[in-house]
Amino acid sequence: MSVSPHDCVVVVLGASGDLAKKKTFPALFALYKRDQLPKHCHILGYARSEMTREAFHERISGHLKGSKEEIEGFLSLCNYQSGKYDVDADFKSLDETLRKYEEDHSKDTLRLFYLALPPSVFAQVASQLRRNTYLDGAINRIIVEKPFGHDLESCRKLITEIKGMWAEHETFRIDHYLGKEMVKNIPTFRFGNPIIENMLNSEHVDNIQISFKEPFGTEGRGGYFDEFGIIRDIQQNHLCQVFCLLAMEPPKDFSSEAVRDAKVQVLQQVEPVRADEVLIGQYVAANGKPGYKDDETVPKESRTPTFAAVVLRVNNERWRGVPFILKAGKALDEGKVDIRIQFKESDTQMTGSERNELVMRIQPGEAAYIKVNTKLPGMANTSAPVELDLTYAKRFHDMHIPEAYEALILDALGEDHSNFVRDDELLASWAIFTPILHAIDKGEFEVAKYAYGSRGPEEIDDFMARLGFRRTVQELAQAE
Ligand code: BG6
Repeated sequence: MSVSPHDCVVVVLGASGDLAKKKTFPALFALYKRDQLPKHCHILGYARSEMTREAFHERISGHLKGSKEEIEGFLSLCNYQSGKYDVDADFKSLDETLRKYEEDHSKDTLRLFYLALPPSVFAQVASQLRRNTYLDGAINRIIVEKPFGHDLESCRKLITEIKGMWAEHETFRIDHYLGKEMVKNIPTFRFGNPIIENMLNSEHVDNIQISFKEPFGTEGRGGYFDEFGIIRDIQQNHLCQVFCLLAMEPPKDFSSEAVRDAKVQVLQQVEPVRADEVLIGQYVAANGKPGYKDDETVPKESRTPTFAAVVLRVNNERWRGVPFILKAGKALDEGKVDIRIQFKESDTQMTGSERNELVMRIQPGEAAYIKVNTKLPGMANTSAPVELDLTYAKRFHDMHIPEAYEALILDALGEDHSNFVRDDELLASWAIFTPILHAIDKGEFEVAKYAYGSRGPEEIDDFMARLGFRRTVQELAQAE
């Protein structure tokens, strides 16, 4: 199946970098294998390094998983051209190459420019592309990756710069969490199930946790990470997007604009983050692993958080009083991203039964389950918490779960904006996080230490307990 009626050229700028190698080309390859690229599709890598076509193929093929024939077939579509990011002549020559591809096929062409580039050159490259490679009469699109600035002001500047050149409908801002299967499932899970949606409000929900855990540190990218820290890296974008889908009111319809309107609306209802509802930490060496500051690229006096818990509170009728705890950490005891909704106990609830929970596990292994209490079979009247379980690997074992980038590139080819971040969404989310980020940058917060491979700073348990979160008896037993 081809998704677009057009002939298409995908230009990956920054083609020799890590993102392109690990994510963009493997995603394009996955689409190729499933016959989801447009029928006449050329892929062109563009970067500063001089490289032959063969060397380029060698570079990208390490991350392509498939048969020899599939890989060869895909590589036959991929070419490479070197050029600078600030030289008009180089972009003019890129344009000539694209025109050659297009001559072979139809006039009705899509040019998709994927900027797998550092933010320092975003605006410059967007401008070069607009000036020198924009094909009038054709469809031109640009895909950009985070970081979109480092605070509200810088984000606004970047948006304004790019907007002057590329229209909003031509711009696709990736937050790859929006391409993840379980994140895409949130609207269906809520609005397709009244028994769930009707429970999602302050009458029934005690607290909601959106948690991101990675079992490795920032080794190798400490220099980049130190400028940003975990809140800019994970909370402001990935977890905030999950928050929006969970907390938004039912959209007018499920068009991309209506969903994004609903997301912006809830973001605008978030109260200023309270300083006593933020906890930050930084990992230190333990279990034979280096500490954050042992990385040579990280300044020795760095106070950049590698762990943070930030509470968002929504000032509307549905959510008033319910904390949304956005928690993220590097170098923790496990790799897991999930949403955990803890429901309130009722006055008539049986003693000995536990709180109900709805958990949506985004990774690893997509799953959604509800913790309920049930009588254990047998003569005794003992109850125990069990899970009503929808584990994808069991239920949908023969279905393909696309990688996030695969799903998103397919959306961009087909001009579906639903899973991309609109400019006003981005500004609204930066508006929430910027005051707290500036306070952290000024050193106004204590940075708690935690051991590499641990559950995070010790302070986190009290912090969570204050917000009403209860670990279940099972979890407490496991922790001992
Ligand atoms: C990126 C962050 O956006 O997301 C990384 O910059 C993080 O620090 C990554 O490791 C996590 O993505 P995923 O898909 O592995 O959960």
